[in-house]
Amino acid sequence: MTHHPLTHPHPPTRQRPTAAAVRPAHRDLAVVTHALTKTFGTGAKARTVVTDLDLAVPRGAVYGFLGPNGSGKSTTMKMLLGLLAPTRGDVALMGEPLNRSTRAGLIARTGSMIEQPPGYGHLTGAENMRIIARMLHLTQAQVDRALALVRLSEHKDRLVRTYSLGMKQRLGIAMALAREPELLILDEPTNGLDPAGIEEVRHLLVALAGEGVTVMVSSHLLDEIDRTATVLGVLAAGRLVFQGTRAALMERSVPDLRVVTPDTASLTRETVGRLLAGLVAAPGSVTRTSDGLIVPGLPDDGVAELVRRLVAEGLSVHELRREPQSLEDVFMSLTGGVGVL
Ligand SMILES: Nc1ncnc2c1ncn2[C@@H]1O[C@H](COP(=O)(O)OP(=O)(O)O)[C@@H](O)[C@H]1O
Ligand SMILES: [Mg+2]
Repeated sequence: MTHHPLTHPHPPTRQRPTAAAVRPAHRDLAVVTHALTKTFGTGAKARTVVTDLDLAVPRGAVYGFLGPNGSGKSTTMKMLLGLLAPTRGDVALMGEPLNRSTRAGLIARTGSMIEQPPGYGHLTGAENMRIIARMLHLTQAQVDRALALVRLSEHKDRLVRTYSLGMKQRLGIAMALAREPELLILDEPTNGLDPAGIEEVRHLLVALAGEGVTVMVSSHLLDEIDRTATVLGVLAAGRLVFQGTRAALMERSVPDLRVVTPDTASLTRETVGRLLAGLVAAPGSVTRTSDGLIVPGLPDDGVAELVRRLVAEGLSVHELRREPQSLEDVFMSLTGGVGVL
C-alpha cells in the first residue's frame, strides 16, 4: 500500500502552530504556503529538495503544479497534507494554519491521491470504496456518486488487480472525491494514462472546479495540464520559478525574431556581429537560415535598433516577424531545459 492519507488516517506530524500563516486575504486561497522548505538528511548528507515555496492556490481554481521529475512536487504535496513535516515554513489550508490540532479537521475537507493510486488489488473497486466509506463515515450515495463521476460504476465489482492503470487512477480519484472535499490534491493523476484517459481526467477536474472544488494537480508534462489549469505553478529544482496564469507565463519570455532578407550572402559572421552588438546577450544564439536570421531574446527596443542597423548596412528586409512561441518553449527556459517536458 502507499502512504495515502486515507489509509493512514493519523500520520505523524510535528508542525508548530503559527499565527503568521493566516491573514485575512488568505480566506480566498485554498492553499497558502510561506517559505515552505524541506531538507532530507542531516550534516554532510543534507539535501534541500524544496526551497522557500510561497504557493497561493485560489479557491475554485484548477492549479497546475508543474515541474520535471525530481523537482519536488510530491514532497511539497505531502507537506500540504501534513504527511511530511516541513523543515521550515508554514502551510494554511482553507484559511486555517495546518498544525497538529487543525490537521484532522482540514484533512477531512481535503481529498488526495499522492504518487501511486491506492487500493487493494485483491478487493473489488466497491470493496475498496467500502473501506474508505467506513473510515470516513460516508453514505452509500456519496460512494455511488464518486464512482459515477470517474465512470467506474459498471466495473465496481471487478477485482482492482484486473483494472487498467487508468481505472486504478480513477478509483484513486473516486476515493479522494467520495468525501466531497473542498480541496482536491492529486499528484500526477494522468501518469501512465493514454490520451483518452488523460482527456477524461481533464474533463473531470474542470467539472469539479465548476462545482466549486479547488483542484491542485501536479504533472511533469506541461501539455497534460496547461489547457485545464487556470493557474500554473512551475517548480524547478525545488524552487517556484513561476506562479500565475498561462497568459502571464507566455509573457515571461520574448519570442524569437525572424529576419527575412534576400541578401543572405552579406550576412557574414562579422556583419551579424555588427548588427547585433550589444543587443543580444549571447551572439552565438543567433541562427543563420536560408532566408535570413533568427534572433532569440530581443525585446522591442532591440528590434527598433536592429532595423536601423539593417538599413545602415544597406540590407533589404522583406519581412521581420516574431515567431510563434509555444508554452513549452517558455517552460523549457524557466526550468533550464531539465527533464523531458
Ligand atoms: N524520503 C526522501 N528522502 C530523501 N530524498 C528524498 C525523499 N523523498 C524525495 N526525495 C528526493 O527529493 C527530490 C524531489 O522528489 P519529489 O518530491 O518526489 O519530486 P517530484 O515529485 O517532482 O518528482 C528528489 O531528488 C528525490 O530523490
Ligand atoms: Mg512525484
